[in-house]
Parts: sequence; C-alpha cells; structure tokens
Amino acid sequence: MSANDSPRAPQTTTHDSAFLRACRREPVPHTPVWFMRQAGRSLPEYLKVREGIPMLESCMRPELVTEITLQPVRRHKVDAAIYFSDIVVPLKAIGIDLDIKPGVGPVVADPVRTRADLDRLRDLTPEDVHYVTEAIGMLTAELGATPLIGFAGAPFTLASYLVEGGPSRNHEHTKALMYGDPQLWADLLDRLAEITSAFLKVQIEAGASAVQLFDSWVGALAPADYRRSVMPASAKVFDAVAGYGVPRIHFGVGTGELLGLMGEAGADVVGVDWRVPLDEAARRVGPGRALQGNLDPAVLFSTPEAVRAKTREVLDAAAGLDGHIFNLGHGVLPTTDPDALTRLVADVHEQTAR
Ligand code: CP3
Repeated sequence: MSANDSPRAPQTTTHDSAFLRACRREPVPHTPVWFMRQAGRSLPEYLKVREGIPMLESCMRPELVTEITLQPVRRHKVDAAIYFSDIVVPLKAIGIDLDIKPGVGPVVADPVRTRADLDRLRDLTPEDVHYVTEAIGMLTAELGATPLIGFAGAPFTLASYLVEGGPSRNHEHTKALMYGDPQLWADLLDRLAEITSAFLKVQIEAGASAVQLFDSWVGALAPADYRRSVMPASAKVFDAVAGYGVPRIHFGVGTGELLGLMGEAGADVVGVDWRVPLDEAARRVGPGRALQGNLDPAVLFSTPEAVRAKTREVLDAAAGLDGHIFNLGHGVLPTTDPDALTRLVADVHEQTAR
C-alpha cells in the first residue's frame, strides 16, 4: 500500500500532506479526514487478525500493529493513520499490573491512591517500548506520504484509570484525591506528564508526524479545577515535545466549557466533540489554533442522506476556520458500519475539493 496510489494524490511528501498542512493552518487541496478509533473496532479484517490475541499483547507485536494501523487507511482512504496501541500501554510498560478487559476497558489491579503508590510509577525508557519504535519504523516505510499520528493519554485521563482502578462514570476516587490531597495529586499528575512525554518522544523519534493527547474524561471537571489541578501537567507534555516541530493535537469529550483553557495549554490543534459547533468552538479556543472535529459518531447509524446533511452542517460551521481537520466528535462506535465511514471520507473530500 502506498498513499501515492490514492487518486487524489498531488501530495508528494508527508510534510505537504493535506493533514499536516491543515494542522499548520496552511491552504489545503481538500479538508483532511481521519477518525479517532479508526484502527480496530468493527472492521472484519481487524477482528480476523486479532482473533485469540489479547489487546495488550497485540500492541506489543510490531507486524500486527503495522497491519492494523494500515487497515483503515487502505479501506477508507483517510488522510492520516493513527498508531494502533492504547493509552495504558506505557503504564503496562513500566510494570503497572493492568489489563484491558473486552467490553469494559482498562482495569488496574492495585489502584494508585497513596504516596507509596506513586513510587510504582517509574520513568519510561525507550527500551520499555522497543516494539513501538520497531512498529513505527515499519509503518512509515509502508505509509508513503500518509502521515502517522502518535498518541498518548493525558495525565488526568490516565490518573482516572489508575486511581479508580478502572473505567468510572463519576471519577469519585480521582476527585477525592484531587481535592483532598492537592500535593499528592500534583505529584501524581507531574509523574504522569513525564511518562507521557517520554512515550510521545519515542513515537516522534521513530517517525510519527503528529501527536494527539487524549484527555477523554477531562470534561468531568469545572474550568477552575481544570486550570488549577490539570492544565499544568498537560501543558508540561506539550512543552516537552514542542521542539520537534510536529503538530500537537489536544482532545477531550464534554469540554465545551474548557475549550479556552485547552487552547491555552499549548497544543497546535484542539479537538472538539459534537456538542459545540466549530465556529463557536473557534471563538472559545481563540486564534492561532486549528480545530479538529466534530460529527457526532452516533449520526453514522442514520440514513446516508441524514449523514450527508449533518456532515454539511459541520463543514459549513468550519468554513471560516483557519485550519480544519474533519473527524468525529469522539471515537468510532464499535458497531458502526464500516461502509458509512468510507462514504463519509469520500463525501468530505468531494465537498471540500478546492
Ligand atoms: O484510534 C485508534 O484507532 C488507535 C487505537 C486506540 C485504541 N485505544 C485501541 C483500543 C486509541 C487511540 C485508543 C485510545 C484510548 N483508549 C482512549 C482515548 C480515546 C477515547 O476513545 O476516548 C481511552 C479512554 C482508552 C481506554 C480504553 N481502551 C477503552 C475505553 C477501551 C474500550 C473498551 C471496550 O472494549 O469497549 C479500550 C480497549 C481498546 N483500545 C480496544 C481498542 C481497539 C478494544 C480492544 C478489545 O476489545 O480487545
């Protein structure tokens, strides 16, 4: 597979790809599209290669990671690949006893709640994740001009899994720690910022052309708490990788009230869920940032006509933006019809061809 096979490929280098140009807020031949959670999920070719292999183990096999990462690029002709892994992989790599339970998510055997627990979060070295370096080397060779997005979980979202011990609706243990022992909380987020920064550096040095920080659950916080207790750690991550010059994307769900602060945290691109139209999101984020989003992933369960109409709404709201990357407002839902995604990519490309 090579991105040069694509019928719409006047792009000759990764650097000039529509995706990276949009991240840099430069003119684009068409609005670039990719989907959070495009790798894995419902693709039959994914289910086939994953058969019998537990999720975390599959993340440690470079050939398998390469194949799964390429599958949605081949099938949907998206403008970027996202590295197949999970936000808890670096935690597993430093020896945290955790597993990803199908249909549940990450489950941590001994939750992190005391100062003594903090000592279990040691530094991440490139050797801890050598399979990531190997897989990215293989991937960039296969991808041609299609950019590869590396990613990591943001300190708050990782802390939520570590402190709760698993997925959580209300984040009660996490918030109890944040409000009850602000110093321990700050130290925990700072440790996670270092681990996350190290993990992103490995991916960039191996060849990732952009990185996304997933702060999926940060929408659970009020702005004042975000500013005081979370933003410094996320900003530290963006600072740590600023020198590479690769675009940094910052995404969370339910972040309408946080968009201004997320804009301040330091990313080049801010991801927006479906609850705030992109023109309004641009006002909240402020100038100098591209936006990524924001079709409701549930819309893909509707009729092709309805999907087209909702896509048009997103594109209209994005018309005046300085840099737009089309995406869903959150990850692809597991039972999404893959053909609906393929049609969506073609539709956005067609409607925005300049
Ligand atoms: O975007 C991609 O396609 C790349 C791969 C990717 C995965 N997880 C693979 C995965 C990415 C970017 C993630 C990020 C991730 N993981 C986030 C942030 C994104 C988001 O959706 O908000 C979060 C919160 C996690 C934690 C996690 N891991 C969850 C909530 C789940 C789903 C549990 C379930 O089965 O519903 C996982 C498991 C997971 N991560 C799977 C995949 C393909 C499913 C694995 C399986 O079922 O065996």
